[in-house]
Amino acid sequence: MILSNSKVEIITRHNKAVYRDGNRLIKVFNERKPGSDVFNEALNDSRVSEAGGRVPRVLEVSQVKDGEWEGSWALALEYIPGQSLAQVMRDNPEKTDEYLEQLVELQLQVLSADAPLLNRQKDKLRRMINSVKTLDPSVRYDLQMRLDGLKGGTKVCHGDFIPSNVIIPDDGSEPYVVDWAHVTAGIPAVDAAQTYLLLKVSNNKDYIEYADTYLKLFSTMSDTPRQVIMNWVPVVAAAELARGRQRREKFLLSQIESVFDYL
Ligand SMILES: Nc1ncnc2c1ncn2[C@@H]1O[C@H](COP(=O)(O)OP(=O)(O)OP(=O)(O)O)[C@@H](O)[C@H]1O
Ligand SMILES: [Mg+2]
Repeated sequence: MILSNSKVEIITRHNKAVYRDGNRLIKVFNERKPGSDVFNEALNDSRVSEAGGRVPRVLEVSQVKDGEWEGSWALALEYIPGQSLAQVMRDNPEKTDEYLEQLVELQLQVLSADAPLLNRQKDKLRRMINSVKTLDPSVRYDLQMRLDGLKGGTKVCHGDFIPSNVIIPDDGSEPYVVDWAHVTAGIPAVDAAQTYLLLKVSNNKDYIEYADTYLKLFSTMSDTPRQVIMNWVPVVAAAELARGRQRREKFLLSQIESVFDYL
């Protein structure tokens, strides 16, 4: 892949950069990112699109040929001109509840599709929790027991369903959902617990304020008791610890420890 000089940076993180380059959205990863993760993200995009999801088209996965990113793996997608829902919500704080309702509606639409070929939510969570050796083994065991109670589940669970991953197109068409790196086939209540937790631990102060309203809305709109969603919060919090984001560690541990009274 060749990146043009007219590319515009959208975000840079510790391990990647995202650019708009003409009508392409390009995610470039640093040298530590295994190629298999990048192919997996592209495969996820394709699977979700084939399951009927409104997802930007995958254009290319390849290594960058020259310049500062030479040799890095990059994923090119169709660029959707528009604004993220996070941006729209920041600009219209008086409409927060309305937009959160739209977020839940969209999430329920995604969750209504089946995609049994995706990676399994249960397997991914089990693997992540097991890798957190700093977590007490008895706690890990308890969390695994909760996961064992999870019956299969083949629904499309995005795994990172937050306002910055929803694009509202400028042309007034239906929203797109982006960033399918974490999608699995699984259970909707687990995906809701994941969104709730991600809002709670976000750097973005607005997100923290959205969390409780989001939970209430998801519960009523999907007719799922809040307790069922909250039951999964310690599980997704433990999996989140596997990502090694130090800053969030204390909060994540508090979400886990609160339910294990022998600690
Ligand atoms: N196809 C696209 N068209 C237009 N804008 C996009 C597209 N894909 C992503 N974006 C914008 O770029 C931002 C970053 O992209 P993306 O969410 O895929 O990466 P990320 O958030 O860094 O991923 P991660 O979840 O690994 O942190 C999104 O929040 C969105 O605003
Ligand atoms: Mg994102």
